Amino acid sequence: MTRVAIVTGAGTGIGAATARLLSTKGLAVVLVGRRAELLEAVREEIGGRTLAVTADVGDRTAPERIVAETLAAFGQIDVVVNNAAVIEPSPIDAVTREAFERHYAVNVAGPFFLVTAALAALRASDDAAVVNVSSSLGTIVMPDTTLYGSTKAALEYLTRALAYELAKDGIRVNAVAPGGIDTPIHETYAEDLQATLADLARRLPIGRMGRPDEVATWVWSLIAPETRYTTGTVIHVDGGHVLGLPESAGG
Ligand SMILES: NC(=O)c1ccc[n+]([C@@H]2O[C@H](COP(=O)([O-])OP(=O)(O)OC[C@H]3O[C@@H](n4cnc5c(N)ncnc54)[C@H](OP(=O)(O)O)[C@@H]3O)[C@@H](O)[C@H]2O)c1
Repeated sequence: MTRVAIVTGAGTGIGAATARLLSTKGLAVVLVGRRAELLEAVREEIGGRTLAVTADVGDRTAPERIVAETLAAFGQIDVVVNNAAVIEPSPIDAVTREAFERHYAVNVAGPFFLVTAALAALRASDDAAVVNVSSSLGTIVMPDTTLYGSTKAALEYLTRALAYELAKDGIRVNAVAPGGIDTPIHETYAEDLQATLADLARRLPIGRMGRPDEVATWVWSLIAPETRYTTGTVIHVDGGHVLGLPESAGG
């Protein structure tokens, strides 16, 4: 039977690459994001069994609505890819209560409640899998990313805890932790985009930025039937970012 996957943040970057790959693997894909026109462009490009749901995953009502629209269209949910996230770098003494709550609403509460909203459907699936998209910054500390990094560390904890609790239901839960991927996310916070990308690439032992499809291939691997014995893992897809600064970067 065709599996049905919900992919959040599917209008651009890693989410769009994941939606494309899952579609080529034969899954029906539900594309979630805030900008309808971007979702529609990806949906048209992919074709096949796709649905676009415009939603802010940080909204309290979004998980139930995303699940309801998916079930109305396809009648089942087998895969959830929690990929949408917000990053607003800031020194700790400039972090506002609003920014704190927004990061946790989108990066932690959104993924958690999307899984719980989809639980009944996931339990009914005979091949259910969740993939959470974390970050190398869930492991290593970098200046001005305390808030974002803490949400990704929380997401990795949730990945392990949900994997443990849901194993008995046949639902496996894993994460990928990208780093230094060339996507529009860097435009959302960088004051000088070229300098930011150059600084990022300098920190990567592999010496170049990664591509969204290089992350999508691991998302697919973690939901593929061949990896059904794997749950609770975090796969780093970051050019070696978490290993530390390469010697050539000095410091
Ligand atoms: N690129 C990297 O170097 C890197 C490194 C580590 C981790 N990551 C992680 O990879 C994931 C994907 O990021 P990306 O690099 O592919 O960046 P991206 O291209 O900017 O993708 C993020 C997507 O999430 C959507 N989104 C953001 N806030 C949302 C919200 N509140 N509700 C629904 N959708 C929302 C955005 O679309 P709308 O604005 O239209 O909603 C966008 O399509 C994120 O979890 C990010 O933390 C990326």
